[in-house]
Amino acid sequence: MNYIHFKEIDSTNSYLKRNSESLENFTFVSTDYQNKGKGRENRIWYATKNENLLFSFIIKEKGLLEKYKSLSIGTATLVARFLEIYGLKNVMVKWPNDVYVNGKKICGILLEGNVSSYIVIGVGLNLNQIVFEDSYRVTPTSVTLETNKKVDIDDFKEKLFIFLYKHINQKLFEKNTLKFYKEHDYLIGKKVTIDGINGIVNGIDDDFNLIVDNKAINSGEVN
Ligand code: BTN
Repeated sequence: MNYIHFKEIDSTNSYLKRNSESLENFTFVSTDYQNKGKGRENRIWYATKNENLLFSFIIKEKGLLEKYKSLSIGTATLVARFLEIYGLKNVMVKWPNDVYVNGKKICGILLEGNVSSYIVIGVGLNLNQIVFEDSYRVTPTSVTLETNKKVDIDDFKEKLFIFLYKHINQKLFEKNTLKFYKEHDYLIGKKVTIDGINGIVNGIDDDFNLIVDNKAINSGEVN
């Protein structure tokens, strides 16, 4: 496990992609501010300076790359588990990889790369930000807004990185991911639109696909 920190960078995902050849498996990169933070679907990820956790890590190990389907949902469930241990209530995971607290989005995850060589997993987790001025598609929240307490970002970050590293490498990672997700499923029973399909979410299957009515969907954006 390696760790690099920047005061400012374009995007921690972009940094790892640019340096994917030379960096080791499980290199974590964090920053105080991204001037080109990326969200899914080519959106911008807004996060104020010094108030949030913005990081990415790179996976290069073959055995883990083969588990790529669980890495997305698995990282989100680990962030959610960590937030529960931290004391937050009503933490839910929204397929494929958002974390919600009390119905508001607290964390978004962006996976990039190529299963044959590397995957970059980027996590944006709102910690101390209390004012969200930009226009958001879904209402955001942060740890401070949920707990009324300020987070020690460095301490939180160090513990979360170790937590992610430890659990992703466990044999039971996929089994634990499915179990936790099923107990914290934000979408179950909801009416959704995904890739033009309307239906009711029936949970996820053992291959981490979303079940909408009776169809298994393996990727896409749920609205
Ligand atoms: C989303 O919900 O749209 C995904 C957001 C992912 C944001 C994180 S912040 C750290 C990493 N670097 C980026 O440019 N994006 C991810």
